[in-house]
Amino acid sequence: MEIFKHDLEYFNQRLIDYKLPSSPLGLYEPVRYLLNLGGKRIRPLLVLAASRVFDGDQDQAIYPALAVEMFHNFSLMHDDIMDAADLRRGEPTVHTKYNVNTAILSGDVMLIHAYKILMNLPSDSKLQCVEIFNKMAEEVCVGQQMDMDFEQSSSVSIMDYLKMIELKTSVLIGAALEMGAVVAGAKTQDSYHLYQFGKNVGIAFQVQDDILDTYGTTAAVGKVIGGDIMNNKKTYLYLKACELLSDSDGARLRKLFGDEGDHQTDKVDQVKQLYKAAGVRIYAEELKQEYKNLALSHLQAVSGLAPKGKAYFEQFADYLIKRDV
Ligand code: IPE
Ligand code: IPE
Ligand code: MG
Ligand code: MG
Ligand code: MG
Repeated sequence: MEIFKHDLEYFNQRLIDYKLPSSPLGLYEPVRYLLNLGGKRIRPLLVLAASRVFDGDQDQAIYPALAVEMFHNFSLMHDDIMDAADLRRGEPTVHTKYNVNTAILSGDVMLIHAYKILMNLPSDSKLQCVEIFNKMAEEVCVGQQMDMDFEQSSSVSIMDYLKMIELKTSVLIGAALEMGAVVAGAKTQDSYHLYQFGKNVGIAFQVQDDILDTYGTTAAVGKVIGGDIMNNKKTYLYLKACELLSDSDGARLRKLFGDEGDHQTDKVDQVKQLYKAAGVRIYAEELKQEYKNLALSHLQAVSGLAPKGKAYFEQFADYLIKRDV
């Protein structure tokens, strides 16, 4: 999007300038490989924007920006092992291109570099950012564990799902905004509302990720479509369909998501037909809108946010929720 162009160029240049050790190649080459595949870079863009609206110095905000992107890519490298995903950003995942051990250790070193980058901050904002980062990072692990546990569970509720996606995905988006505000010296109340804005947008963002996993195209999304269905992920689409379908269709869906369903070659098509019969997609769209509205109410509560800054975040929220990549 045009409004991101300047920040995106600045961020990508600073990422290129960030020199990882050259050896051992087996450890750092996969890191460079994944980072160079790009991605939307939404989290660092949010750090930079949050700092800017409070007149912060971009050369300070760049540290949490680099740290969140490093952390995000670490989490993807491990997530792709956990989800047995073959494609990321249109290219083979690290564990597919190299091997699982490589993806474990190269992911670990990315997490360490995220912390090393934060060490560049001045001491007062460093302490605050590390605290925000620690809380977020542990929550992401909890969310990822819930996501894995839910694959095996037949009693997941929509509330459970919402908590799981809040933790695995949206706290990182919230923390990116909060750290941007903190390095710019924003008031606690303001960084809190910006965090809440990000957290609620992040929930809608993950619902969109789940929609794209089922209804997107590999060419646009760069992932294998239908992966969530193959892995019995308890997404909102699945949970809402279970709620809406007739007893017999609901039982069919649950069976497809049970052990017996794993060997069905046309499982994805069958599940999609049931989703269609239940009309779940429209409900997912409504859910996104609900969380977007919640997010906007927090944006409204940020004091002294100039109309330009507010408009930027509103546009950003729309982009995150309506994207097809
Ligand atoms: C993918 O995040 C993982 C989720 C939390 C949904 P993005 O969709 O931001 O991935 P990239 O960085 O743009 O590839
Ligand atoms: C990823 O959720 C969340 C984290 C990496 C922490 P998904 O598993 O849905 O992300 P994608 O679809 O693989 O990008
Ligand atoms: Mg995944
Ligand atoms: Mg996952
Ligand atoms: Mg996904």
